[in-house]
Amino acid sequence: MQETRAEILARLADGPVTGPELADSLGVSRAAVWKQIESLREAGFEIPSGDAGYRLASVPEFGGAAIEFGLDAPYSIEYHDTITSTNDRARELAVEGRTDAVVVADEQTGGRGRLDREWRSPSGGIWLSILLRPEIPTVQAPIYTLAGAVATTRAVRELGVDARIKWPNDVQVGGRKLAGILTEMEGEADRISWLVVGIGLNANVDPGQLPAEQPVTSLQSETGAVDRRTVTQRLLAEFRKLAAETDSILPAWRELATTVGKRVRVETPDGEVVGDAVGIDSPGTLVVDTGGETVTVTAGDCEHLQPGDVSRD
Ligand code: BTN
Repeated sequence: MQETRAEILARLADGPVTGPELADSLGVSRAAVWKQIESLREAGFEIPSGDAGYRLASVPEFGGAAIEFGLDAPYSIEYHDTITSTNDRARELAVEGRTDAVVVADEQTGGRGRLDREWRSPSGGIWLSILLRPEIPTVQAPIYTLAGAVATTRAVRELGVDARIKWPNDVQVGGRKLAGILTEMEGEADRISWLVVGIGLNANVDPGQLPAEQPVTSLQSETGAVDRRTVTQRLLAEFRKLAAETDSILPAWRELATTVGKRVRVETPDGEVVGDAVGIDSPGTLVVDTGGETVTVTAGDCEHLQPGDVSRD
Protein backbone atom coordinates (compact mmCIF):
# COMPACT_ATOMS: atom_id res chain seq x y z
CA MET A 1 0.00 0.00 0.00
CA GLN A 2 1.14 3.49 -0.64
CA GLU A 3 3.17 4.61 2.42
CA THR A 4 1.16 7.73 3.40
CA ARG A 5 -2.11 5.89 3.00
CA ALA A 6 -0.92 3.01 5.18
CA GLU A 7 0.28 5.43 7.86
CA ILE A 8 -3.00 7.36 7.83
CA LEU A 9 -4.92 4.11 8.33
CA ALA A 10 -2.58 3.05 11.13
CA ARG A 11 -3.11 6.37 12.92
CA LEU A 12 -6.89 6.23 12.45
CA ALA A 13 -6.95 2.71 13.86
CA ASP A 14 -5.47 4.10 17.11
CA GLY A 15 -8.35 6.56 17.58
CA PRO A 16 -9.57 9.90 16.27
CA VAL A 17 -6.97 12.23 14.81
CA THR A 18 -7.32 15.63 13.19
CA GLY A 19 -6.20 16.55 9.68
CA PRO A 20 -3.51 18.98 10.90
CA GLU A 21 -2.16 16.36 13.35
CA LEU A 22 -1.94 13.83 10.53
CA ALA A 23 -0.28 16.31 8.22
CA ASP A 24 2.32 17.26 10.88
CA SER A 25 3.18 13.72 11.92
CA LEU A 26 3.44 12.45 8.34
CA GLY A 27 5.26 15.51 7.03
CA VAL A 28 2.75 16.14 4.23
CA SER A 29 0.33 18.97 3.43
CA ARG A 30 -3.24 19.06 4.80
CA ALA A 31 -4.47 18.90 1.21
CA ALA A 32 -2.51 15.65 0.73
CA VAL A 33 -4.11 14.20 3.88
CA TRP A 34 -7.58 15.20 2.69
CA LYS A 35 -6.92 13.63 -0.71
CA GLN A 36 -5.88 10.35 0.89
CA ILE A 37 -8.90 10.34 3.21
CA GLU A 38 -11.16 10.87 0.20
CA SER A 39 -9.52 8.05 -1.71
CA LEU A 40 -9.87 5.71 1.29
CA ARG A 41 -13.55 6.64 1.52
CA GLU A 42 -13.92 5.86 -2.17
CA ALA A 43 -12.30 2.47 -1.52
CA GLY A 44 -15.08 1.79 1.01
CA PHE A 45 -13.45 2.76 4.33
CA GLU A 46 -15.96 4.60 6.54
CA ILE A 47 -14.11 7.60 7.96
CA PRO A 48 -16.48 10.10 9.59
CA SER A 49 -15.04 13.38 10.88
CA GLY A 50 -16.13 15.00 14.14
CA ASP A 51 -14.83 17.38 16.80
CA ALA A 52 -11.99 15.00 17.69
CA GLY A 53 -11.02 14.63 14.04
CA TYR A 54 -11.27 11.72 11.65
CA ARG A 55 -11.98 8.20 12.91
CA LEU A 56 -12.06 4.78 11.31
CA ALA A 57 -15.62 3.45 11.63
CA SER A 58 -15.38 0.45 9.32
CA VAL A 59 -13.17 -1.36 6.84
CA PRO A 60 -14.58 -2.63 3.53
CA GLU A 61 -15.46 -6.33 3.30
CA PHE A 62 -12.94 -6.97 0.51
CA GLY A 63 -10.66 -5.10 -1.86
CA GLY A 64 -6.99 -4.19 -2.25
CA ALA A 65 -6.69 -1.51 0.44
CA ALA A 66 -8.82 -3.57 2.84
CA ILE A 67 -6.59 -6.65 2.47
CA GLU A 68 -3.38 -4.63 2.78
CA PHE A 69 -4.66 -2.96 5.96
CA GLY A 70 -3.43 -5.21 8.79
CA LEU A 71 -1.77 -7.71 6.44
CA ASP A 72 1.11 -9.53 8.13
CA ALA A 73 3.10 -10.05 4.92
CA PRO A 74 4.96 -7.58 2.69
CA TYR A 75 2.81 -8.10 -0.41
CA SER A 76 1.19 -5.37 -2.45
CA ILE A 77 -2.36 -6.22 -3.46
CA GLU A 78 -3.94 -5.50 -6.82
CA TYR A 79 -7.68 -6.07 -6.63
CA HIS A 80 -10.23 -6.55 -9.42
CA ASP A 81 -14.00 -6.91 -9.11
CA THR A 82 -13.81 -9.01 -12.24
CA ILE A 83 -10.90 -10.24 -14.34
CA THR A 84 -10.21 -13.02 -16.85
CA SER A 85 -7.67 -14.83 -14.66
CA THR A 86 -5.57 -13.57 -11.74
CA ASN A 87 -2.76 -15.89 -12.91
CA ASP A 88 -2.74 -14.16 -16.31
CA ARG A 89 -2.57 -10.74 -14.66
CA ALA A 90 0.21 -11.87 -12.28
CA ARG A 91 2.14 -13.10 -15.33
CA GLU A 92 1.83 -9.59 -16.85
CA LEU A 93 3.17 -8.09 -13.62
CA ALA A 94 6.08 -10.58 -13.77
CA VAL A 95 6.92 -9.42 -17.29
CA GLU A 96 6.92 -5.83 -15.96
CA GLY A 97 9.58 -6.93 -13.44
CA ARG A 98 7.38 -6.93 -10.33
CA THR A 99 7.63 -9.32 -7.37
CA ASP A 100 5.87 -9.89 -4.03
CA ALA A 101 2.62 -8.81 -5.62
CA VAL A 102 -0.73 -10.50 -5.19
CA VAL A 103 -3.61 -10.21 -7.67
CA VAL A 104 -7.00 -10.79 -6.05
CA ALA A 105 -10.40 -10.94 -7.73
CA ASP A 106 -14.00 -11.28 -6.64
CA GLU A 107 -14.85 -13.03 -9.93
CA GLN A 108 -12.89 -14.57 -12.81
CA THR A 109 -14.39 -14.98 -16.26
CA GLY A 110 -11.61 -17.24 -17.59
CA GLY A 111 -10.26 -18.95 -14.48
CA ARG A 112 -7.87 -21.78 -15.26
CA GLY A 113 -7.31 -25.02 -13.37
CA ARG A 114 -4.67 -27.74 -13.64
CA LEU A 115 -4.32 -29.75 -16.84
CA ASP A 116 -5.94 -26.98 -18.92
CA ARG A 117 -9.26 -27.37 -17.17
CA GLU A 118 -11.69 -24.52 -16.61
CA TRP A 119 -11.85 -23.21 -13.02
CA ARG A 120 -15.32 -21.82 -12.35
CA SER A 121 -14.88 -18.59 -10.36
CA PRO A 122 -18.18 -16.85 -9.59
CA SER A 123 -18.42 -13.67 -7.52
CA GLY A 124 -17.87 -14.34 -3.80
CA GLY A 125 -14.79 -16.56 -4.05
CA ILE A 126 -11.21 -15.88 -3.09
CA TRP A 127 -9.33 -16.07 -6.39
CA LEU A 128 -5.75 -14.93 -6.02
CA SER A 129 -2.28 -15.25 -7.49
CA ILE A 130 0.97 -14.65 -5.63
CA LEU A 131 3.96 -13.51 -7.70
CA LEU A 132 7.40 -14.42 -6.31
CA ARG A 133 10.99 -14.66 -7.49
CA PRO A 134 12.54 -17.34 -5.27
CA GLU A 135 16.20 -18.10 -5.90
CA ILE A 136 15.85 -21.84 -6.43
CA PRO A 137 16.35 -24.34 -9.27
CA THR A 138 13.25 -24.94 -11.39
CA VAL A 139 12.85 -28.53 -10.14
CA GLN A 140 12.21 -27.20 -6.63
CA ALA A 141 9.21 -25.13 -7.73
CA PRO A 142 6.52 -27.69 -6.73
CA ILE A 143 7.33 -27.01 -3.08
CA TYR A 144 5.54 -23.66 -3.48
CA THR A 145 2.42 -25.44 -4.67
CA LEU A 146 2.48 -27.46 -1.46
CA ALA A 147 3.00 -24.21 0.47
CA GLY A 148 -0.14 -22.82 -1.17
CA ALA A 149 -2.12 -25.87 -0.12
CA VAL A 150 -0.77 -25.74 3.46
CA ALA A 151 -1.43 -21.99 3.79
CA THR A 152 -4.98 -22.35 2.49
CA THR A 153 -5.70 -25.35 4.72
CA ARG A 154 -4.35 -23.61 7.81
CA ALA A 155 -6.37 -20.45 7.10
CA VAL A 156 -9.65 -22.31 6.74
CA ARG A 157 -9.00 -24.67 9.66
CA GLU A 158 -8.87 -21.54 11.86
CA LEU A 159 -12.56 -21.12 10.97
CA GLY A 160 -13.29 -24.59 12.30
CA VAL A 161 -13.48 -26.20 8.85
CA ASP A 162 -11.95 -29.70 8.91
CA ALA A 163 -9.94 -29.24 5.71
CA ARG A 164 -7.26 -31.69 4.59
CA ILE A 165 -4.97 -31.94 1.58
CA LYS A 166 -5.14 -34.53 -1.14
CA TRP A 167 -1.90 -34.92 -3.09
CA PRO A 168 -0.70 -32.82 -4.72
CA ASN A 169 -2.73 -29.69 -4.15
CA ASP A 170 -6.44 -30.22 -3.53
CA VAL A 171 -7.84 -28.82 -0.32
CA GLN A 172 -10.83 -30.93 0.60
CA VAL A 173 -13.45 -31.23 3.31
CA GLY A 174 -14.69 -34.80 3.70
CA GLY A 175 -13.56 -35.60 0.15
CA ARG A 176 -15.29 -32.53 -1.36
CA LYS A 177 -13.01 -30.04 -3.11
CA LEU A 178 -12.79 -26.65 -1.40
CA ALA A 179 -9.71 -25.17 -3.07
CA GLY A 180 -7.09 -25.85 -5.73
CA ILE A 181 -3.69 -24.47 -6.65
CA LEU A 182 -2.26 -23.75 -10.10
CA THR A 183 1.44 -22.86 -10.13
CA GLU A 184 3.02 -21.38 -13.25
CA MET A 185 6.56 -20.18 -13.80
CA GLU A 186 9.28 -19.11 -16.15
CA GLY A 187 13.01 -19.68 -15.91
CA GLU A 188 16.02 -21.68 -16.96
CA ALA A 189 16.72 -25.19 -15.63
CA ASP A 190 19.04 -23.91 -12.93
CA ARG A 191 16.99 -20.93 -11.82
CA ILE A 192 13.43 -19.67 -11.67
CA SER A 193 12.83 -16.21 -13.09
CA TRP A 194 9.35 -15.86 -11.62
CA LEU A 195 6.73 -18.06 -10.05
CA VAL A 196 2.97 -17.52 -9.78
CA VAL A 197 1.03 -19.53 -7.21
CA GLY A 198 -2.65 -19.26 -8.10
CA ILE A 199 -5.10 -20.23 -5.38
CA GLY A 200 -8.81 -20.73 -5.94
CA LEU A 201 -10.80 -20.97 -2.71
CA ASN A 202 -14.56 -21.46 -2.90
CA ALA A 203 -15.44 -18.99 -0.17
CA ASN A 204 -18.85 -17.29 -0.26
CA VAL A 205 -20.18 -19.20 -3.22
CA ASP A 206 -23.01 -21.67 -3.61
CA PRO A 207 -21.60 -25.09 -4.61
CA GLY A 208 -24.51 -25.26 -7.08
CA GLN A 209 -22.63 -22.63 -9.14
CA LEU A 210 -19.57 -24.89 -9.33
CA PRO A 211 -18.91 -27.80 -11.71
CA ALA A 212 -20.68 -31.03 -10.89
CA GLU A 213 -18.02 -33.42 -12.28
CA GLN A 214 -16.57 -33.94 -8.82
CA PRO A 215 -17.83 -33.37 -5.28
CA VAL A 216 -17.24 -29.72 -4.36
CA THR A 217 -17.89 -27.52 -1.37
CA SER A 218 -17.43 -23.93 -0.23
CA LEU A 219 -16.75 -22.16 3.05
CA GLN A 220 -20.26 -20.74 2.86
CA SER A 221 -21.78 -24.20 2.84
CA GLU A 222 -19.41 -25.52 5.53
CA THR A 223 -19.67 -22.67 8.07
CA GLY A 224 -21.83 -19.89 6.60
CA ALA A 225 -20.53 -16.77 4.85
CA VAL A 226 -17.01 -15.80 5.94
CA ASP A 227 -15.04 -12.57 6.21
CA ARG A 228 -13.01 -12.93 3.00
CA ARG A 229 -10.64 -10.13 3.96
CA THR A 230 -9.48 -11.93 7.12
CA VAL A 231 -9.28 -15.33 5.41
CA THR A 232 -7.16 -13.83 2.62
CA GLN A 233 -4.90 -12.07 5.12
CA ARG A 234 -4.38 -15.26 7.13
CA LEU A 235 -3.73 -17.31 3.98
CA LEU A 236 -1.15 -14.80 2.71
CA ALA A 237 0.57 -14.50 6.11
CA GLU A 238 0.85 -18.32 6.35
CA PHE A 239 2.13 -18.55 2.77
CA ARG A 240 4.75 -15.90 3.43
CA LYS A 241 5.94 -17.71 6.58
CA LEU A 242 6.29 -21.01 4.69
CA ALA A 243 8.01 -19.38 1.71
CA ALA A 244 10.55 -17.83 4.08
CA GLU A 245 11.30 -21.25 5.61
CA THR A 246 10.99 -23.78 2.82
CA ASP A 247 12.27 -26.63 5.06
CA SER A 248 9.07 -26.33 7.06
CA ILE A 249 6.76 -26.91 4.07
CA LEU A 250 7.00 -30.68 3.63
CA PRO A 251 6.52 -31.55 7.34
CA ALA A 252 3.53 -29.17 7.48
CA TRP A 253 2.07 -30.71 4.33
CA ARG A 254 2.49 -34.26 5.72
CA GLU A 255 0.66 -33.26 8.89
CA LEU A 256 -2.36 -31.96 6.98
CA ALA A 257 -2.56 -34.45 4.11
CA THR A 258 -4.73 -37.54 3.84
CA THR A 259 -3.07 -39.23 0.86
CA VAL A 260 -0.18 -41.05 2.55
CA GLY A 261 -1.46 -44.39 3.89
CA LYS A 262 -4.26 -44.54 1.29
CA ARG A 263 -4.58 -46.82 -1.70
CA VAL A 264 -4.39 -44.55 -4.74
CA ARG A 265 -4.75 -44.45 -8.46
CA VAL A 266 -2.72 -41.71 -10.13
CA GLU A 267 -3.20 -40.78 -13.78
CA THR A 268 0.26 -39.62 -14.81
CA PRO A 269 1.43 -38.37 -18.20
CA ASP A 270 3.19 -41.77 -18.52
CA GLY A 271 0.17 -43.88 -17.59
CA GLU A 272 -1.71 -45.10 -14.55
CA VAL A 273 -0.04 -45.93 -11.24
CA VAL A 274 -2.06 -47.92 -8.68
CA GLY A 275 -0.76 -48.81 -5.24
CA ASP A 276 -0.33 -47.73 -1.65
CA ALA A 277 0.83 -44.14 -1.12
CA VAL A 278 3.70 -44.61 1.32
CA GLY A 279 5.29 -41.18 1.46
CA ILE A 280 5.97 -37.80 -0.01
CA ASP A 281 9.49 -36.65 -0.87
CA SER A 282 10.97 -33.29 -1.76
CA PRO A 283 9.87 -31.26 -3.69
CA GLY A 284 6.47 -32.94 -3.46
CA THR A 285 6.74 -36.27 -5.28
CA LEU A 286 4.37 -39.01 -4.19
CA VAL A 287 5.93 -42.37 -3.37
CA VAL A 288 3.67 -45.29 -4.34
CA ASP A 289 4.24 -48.94 -3.48
CA THR A 290 2.66 -50.81 -6.38
CA GLY A 291 3.28 -54.22 -4.85
CA GLY A 292 6.11 -55.08 -7.17
CA GLU A 293 8.07 -51.83 -6.97
CA THR A 294 8.24 -48.37 -5.46
CA VAL A 295 7.34 -45.64 -7.93
CA THR A 296 7.76 -41.89 -7.46
CA VAL A 297 5.15 -39.72 -9.13
CA THR A 298 5.81 -36.05 -9.82
CA ALA A 299 2.51 -35.01 -11.40
CA GLY A 300 -0.94 -36.36 -12.11
CA ASP A 301 -4.52 -36.72 -11.02
CA CYS A 302 -4.77 -38.68 -7.81
CA GLU A 303 -7.78 -40.67 -6.68
CA HIS A 304 -8.09 -42.17 -3.20
CA LEU A 305 -9.44 -45.70 -3.52
CA GLN A 306 -11.49 -47.64 -1.00
CA PRO A 307 -9.92 -51.04 -0.17
CA GLY A 308 -10.36 -53.29 -3.19
CA ASP A 309 -12.59 -50.75 -4.87
CA VAL A 310 -12.44 -47.92 -7.38
CA SER A 311 -14.71 -45.33 -5.80
CA ARG A 312 -13.54 -41.87 -4.68
CA ASP A 313 -13.51 -40.95 -1.03
C1 BTN B 1 -6.99 -26.85 -9.78
O1 BTN B 1 -7.27 -27.26 -10.91
O2 BTN B 1 -7.26 -27.48 -8.76
C2 BTN B 1 -6.30 -25.51 -9.63
C3 BTN B 1 -7.25 -24.36 -9.64
C4 BTN B 1 -6.58 -23.00 -9.48
C5 BTN B 1 -7.54 -21.85 -9.64
C6 BTN B 1 -6.91 -20.53 -9.29
S1 BTN B 1 -8.12 -19.26 -9.04
C7 BTN B 1 -6.86 -18.06 -9.00
C8 BTN B 1 -5.87 -18.42 -10.08
N1 BTN B 1 -6.29 -17.89 -11.36
C9 BTN B 1 -6.59 -18.87 -12.23
O3 BTN B 1 -6.97 -18.68 -13.41
N2 BTN B 1 -6.42 -20.06 -11.68
C10 BTN B 1 -5.94 -19.95 -10.30
